[in-house]
Formats: sequence, structure tokens, C-alpha cells
Amino acid sequence: MILVTGGAGYIGSHCVQALLDAGRDVVIFDNLSTGHRETVEKLAGAGFVEGDLKNPADINGVFEKFDIEAVVHFAAFSQVGESVKEPYKYFQNNVCGSMNLLEAMVKHDCKKIVFSSTAAVYGEPDYTPIDENHPKHPINPYGETKLTVEMIMDDFEKAYGLKSVRLRYFNVAGADAQGRIGEWHEPETHLIPNVLKAAINPGKTFNLFGDDYPTKDGTCVRDYIDVNDLIDAHLLALKYLQSGGGTNVFNLGTQTGSTVKEVFETCKKVTGKEIPYEIQPRREGDPAILVADNKKAREILDWQPSRTLNDSVKNAWNWECQFINLNK
Ligand code: UFG
Repeated sequence: MILVTGGAGYIGSHCVQALLDAGRDVVIFDNLSTGHRETVEKLAGAGFVEGDLKNPADINGVFEKFDIEAVVHFAAFSQVGESVKEPYKYFQNNVCGSMNLLEAMVKHDCKKIVFSSTAAVYGEPDYTPIDENHPKHPINPYGETKLTVEMIMDDFEKAYGLKSVRLRYFNVAGADAQGRIGEWHEPETHLIPNVLKAAINPGKTFNLFGDDYPTKDGTCVRDYIDVNDLIDAHLLALKYLQSGGGTNVFNLGTQTGSTVKEVFETCKKVTGKEIPYEIQPRREGDPAILVADNKKAREILDWQPSRTLNDSVKNAWNWECQFINLNK
């Protein structure tokens, strides 16, 4: 049985679906604070425990009830702006919650974990593409919490032999290709869903944050990795750990940058709509360029990301259209 914490959230739910599609037994642990019960209900075949990592009894209960062979750990708050305003909330949830999880794992002799980390651990890049050895100097509490958990995992390895694979995500995009699940954040802060919401909701305008960056068209460059490719890497990371692989860290990105304007144009092409937009000032804390060096994941995990930005936007659009119909 694989335990997926945060399995009711955007990326976690895609992982649960992929594990189920691969015939694995899965139990979801989620407090539904940002994840959704409707998402869990769609993941037919997965077990579900509603609980909070901040309560050691909740997570210990899962290990007492199920025979957990490995954990994929997504449960965390993930909004950069909110983390700046409410650092306590982020450290308590992301760091203390993860410590309770790790402690419960060790107590129940479960010593393999795939951890959802982030490119935010690198902060303002010294160079791009960013490889895993790039200096880590996060510029917000969100990135600090993820880096702290990575460090705690090192200490748990030394003390108890816990093996971890930390996957540092760049910009995750898209949805399930069959339209079963997709991105659902409240509030939504990410680029692609915000552009698509402006395409579908009359009267809504997309706000483009900053067109005066030192990039080819003045807008920020990001590395958009399709959620299905990203989840392929999680399954490969589990396989790696379960076949004896040691603690490791991998960037997950495509190694290709797209500007905000290019993403916007892709959204216009996929939806066939004119999308109202306004140029706004820069958003605080946005580096100009973030692109992954993904060589290590391709070599060691044998990972081959194959979906294009167009694929991600197509699946995200399919999901948004369903979503607006459901919420009418
Ligand atoms: N953007 C807009 N308008 C919007 C939303 C975003 O112009 O409505 C721009 C941003 O300014 C940025 C780009 O689109 O230039 C991408 O922004 P996102 O919010 O989609 O993603 P970020 O790059 O800010 O954040 C991602 C992850 C975070 C992670 C961070 C690491 O979502 O979890 O990368 O730096 F922390």
C-alpha cells in the first residue's frame, strides 16, 4: 500500500490516479484544507483518511491501520505570497507536519519517501538552467519550509536510515488527459488557469505581471512541466527507492523556457478565443528566468518528459470547461 499525503490536491490527486491506473493500492491522507472531497470521490479505488499531519495521532493511525510500504508526500501549503504574510502557518504546517509524518514512518518501520519539493529552494538563480547543485538561497518562507524538510530528511537518514527522493518542481501545468481531474486552487494564483478563466468567464481580465523584465519579450520565463510527466517521475522515483536506490534529489522541468506572453498566445490558440488582458506592475518576488536542468532525472530515473506546453494547455482547457459547467 502506498500512502499519498495531500492526495486530494492538484498534484497529489494526479499521482493517486496514476498509481491506481498502474494497479497499485493507495491510501490518501488529507485534511481537505486546500484539497477537495469531490476530488477524492473521483479517485475510485483509493482509500481515504481525513486527518491532519499536525496531529501525530492522525498520521500514526494510518500506519497502524494500513501496511504502508512507501510514502509520496505532497501535503503542504504552497502559495508563495501567503507564505510571506503568514510564515508561522507555513512552518507549522509544512515543517512540523512533515516531522510528524517522518516520525510516524520511522516508528512503523516505513523508510521510503518521495517528497514534493520545489524550485523555490534555489531562490533568485545565479545561473540557468538550474541544476541540483545550484546554491540554495530561498527568498520566501514557502521555499524555506521545503528546504528545511529536505534537511530534516538528511538527519532522519543518518539517524534511522530513512531513504528519500526529493523532487524539485518547476512550473507544474495541465491536467489529466482523460479529463477526470485537474487544477483547482482557491484562490487561483497560477498563470495558465488564470488565463483560461479569463477566456471562459465573461467580464474577467487576465492580469499580466510585468513586461519590463530582461527577457526576449519583457515577460518572465518559466519552465512549464506537464503534470502527467511530473507524475511519471514520481512513479519512477518510487521504483528507484523500492529497488534499493539511495537518497537523491532531482529537478523536474522540461529544460525549456516559455515567456508569459508565449503561454498567453498558446492559450489563445488552444481556446480559439480573444482573451482580455491588462499589463500590471511586476509581482513581488518573481525572478526573471527559471529553467531547470533536468539531465539528472533523465539519466538516473530514466525519465522522459514528452508532453508539450500545447498538450498541457489543451488538457487544462478541457478541465476548465468541465469545471465551469459543474459550478454553474
Ligand atoms: N503570472 C501573471 N499573471 C497571473 C499569474 C502569473 O502574469 O495571473 C506570471 C507570474 O508573474 C510569473 C508567471 O506568470 O511570471 C508564472 O507564475 P505562476 O504563479 O504560475 O508560477 P510561479 O513561477 O510564480 O510559481 C511556481 C510555483 C510555486 C513555486 C515557484 C518557484 O507555482 O509553487 O514556481 O519559484 F514556488
